[in-house]
Amino acid sequence: MGLKEKLKQNKQTGRALLATNFYNFETLAAVLTAARDTNSELILQLSESSIHYMGLEVATSLARAAILQYGVKAWLHLDHGQDVELVKRCIDAGFDSVMIDASEKPFAENIAITKEIVDYATEYDINVEAELGYISKLGQEQKMIYTRPDEAKEFVEATGINALAVAVGSAHGFYKETPKLQLELIGEINKAMDAALVLHGSSGIPNDQLQRAIKMGITKINLATEIKNIFMKSLQETLKHTDNIDLRQVFPKATSAATALVSAKLKTINFS
Ligand code: 13P
Ligand code: ZN
Ligand code: NA
Repeated sequence: MGLKEKLKQNKQTGRALLATNFYNFETLAAVLTAARDTNSELILQLSESSIHYMGLEVATSLARAAILQYGVKAWLHLDHGQDVELVKRCIDAGFDSVMIDASEKPFAENIAITKEIVDYATEYDINVEAELGYISKLGQEQKMIYTRPDEAKEFVEATGINALAVAVGSAHGFYKETPKLQLELIGEINKAMDAALVLHGSSGIPNDQLQRAIKMGITKINLATEIKNIFMKSLQETLKHTDNIDLRQVFPKATSAATALVSAKLKTINFS
């Protein structure tokens, strides 16, 4: 089943998929092991910077080969595509899903750029996600512009997207204070339109809020920072106690720590 159809089904059944970012072989192996161990389906996300780091060919081939090797049902998605040409290259490269992120642009321009990608993706029948409102990025001041249901409806109808990233109280990276998701607003936006809702910035959101957000209509949960954090904290700890230069013996502990985190997250999300 394509991701477009899967998210549509999730919207009807009130379920959600976890979408995990990966950065290299180890973090890819970590998230796929978690999916395999918990019998879960998963979305694998690449950011533009991870594509620049590995190269599009390597990143795509690595993900595809790993999905087969681990025997997991997983979809490949471009996270926060801001470069229209790169988004198109990802579509040509066979991604199952792309996010076109023109959320920092004025409403009309966001619609025009998003529509260009929806039109480009038509013949591929892939999932297209866009963002409306503003979900603040790592290191920025918490600038919060909530998504408005009426605008969301207009945006989805004007662009033809299948999935919408909504600004409902989450932010990228860790939080200074425990976040408070706007659950009523999620429900209102969900009812106002056909597109499936995506929650960004899920690192640092307590489990009960994640589950409530799913109940209100979130169908895709994006997780990045917690994976990077646990992997690097574990690796830094290992390196304090070893001068082993065989990286294949040094990395696995960090990989396992990331697997444990993602397994727990998958269990939280698959609660219903
Ligand atoms: P976090 O880094 O807060 O988990 O957000 C991830 C995200 O939204 C990726 O698109
Ligand atoms: Zn995001
Ligand atoms: Na976050």
